[in-house]
Amino acid sequence: MVMPNLVKDAAYIAYESTLKKEVLSGEIPQHIAIIMDGNRRYAEEVLGESTIKGHTMGREKLKEVLEWCMDLKVKHLTLFAFSTENFKRDPEEVNYIMELMEKSFYEYADSEEVHKYRVGIKVIGDRNLFPESLLKAVEYAEEKTKDYNELTVYMAVGYGGRQDIANAVRCIAAKVRDGELDLDDIDEDLISSAISTSDIPDPDLVLRTSGEVRLSNFLLWQMAYSELYFTDVYWPGFRYIDFLRAIRTYQQRKRRYGA
Ligand code: IPE
Ligand code: MG
Repeated sequence: MVMPNLVKDAAYIAYESTLKKEVLSGEIPQHIAIIMDGNRRYAEEVLGESTIKGHTMGREKLKEVLEWCMDLKVKHLTLFAFSTENFKRDPEEVNYIMELMEKSFYEYADSEEVHKYRVGIKVIGDRNLFPESLLKAVEYAEEKTKDYNELTVYMAVGYGGRQDIANAVRCIAAKVRDGELDLDDIDEDLISSAISTSDIPDPDLVLRTSGEVRLSNFLLWQMAYSELYFTDVYWPGFRYIDFLRAIRTYQQRKRRYGA
């Protein structure tokens, strides 16, 4: 039997509020990292629309996720928006996404909520790969929110985990060459301090949507001890209850850090 929408909505809201209470009674992960995957499949398979539309819907979803994070008081959020490898996609799609991101950075930087909740926006990734206009938008958003850290949002754009590690190694090697560092100074903490997310703790929870079970060169160094959570829903279809379930699963796991 098909449930009438009203009943379904009421049931959904009740479930969401029960889940939220449950989650709030436990430890909220400080840093959540998300691989937002499945935009194109959502547009095509679920809506029967052109794949490119999925990216617009994915962007709308992101706004909601920011609200959920503020609601639950998550401190840090890292989002895999566009990988180094994604630049190999059809130029039309790449341009579409670049423009969408550009628009989003301006919109976030000027939005009332971002200033009210003091959301700091930062971008990690290779800026040499950005079109000039995207770079401007990124710098605008970073500058406008540089004093905020109630919630810090790292957008990974043109990002690759291996490239991140290679950059850190290059910085450290230069210091060794210049006599500022000794070979024996090189340890895990030093590498962590040279990595792109050095000013925030490593992710507690890494979540990927769309049913793919892989890390795709995301925060490789940083996720050594993260809890991983994979869900089948496509990113634009991700709901608050899916997010809450991911956190509840995280809370049910016992982190032992190898001990
Ligand atoms: C994720 O969705 C967004 C980006 C990588 C830009 P996809 O574009 O990878 O969509 P699917 O995975 O092909 O459905
Ligand atoms: Mg994908």
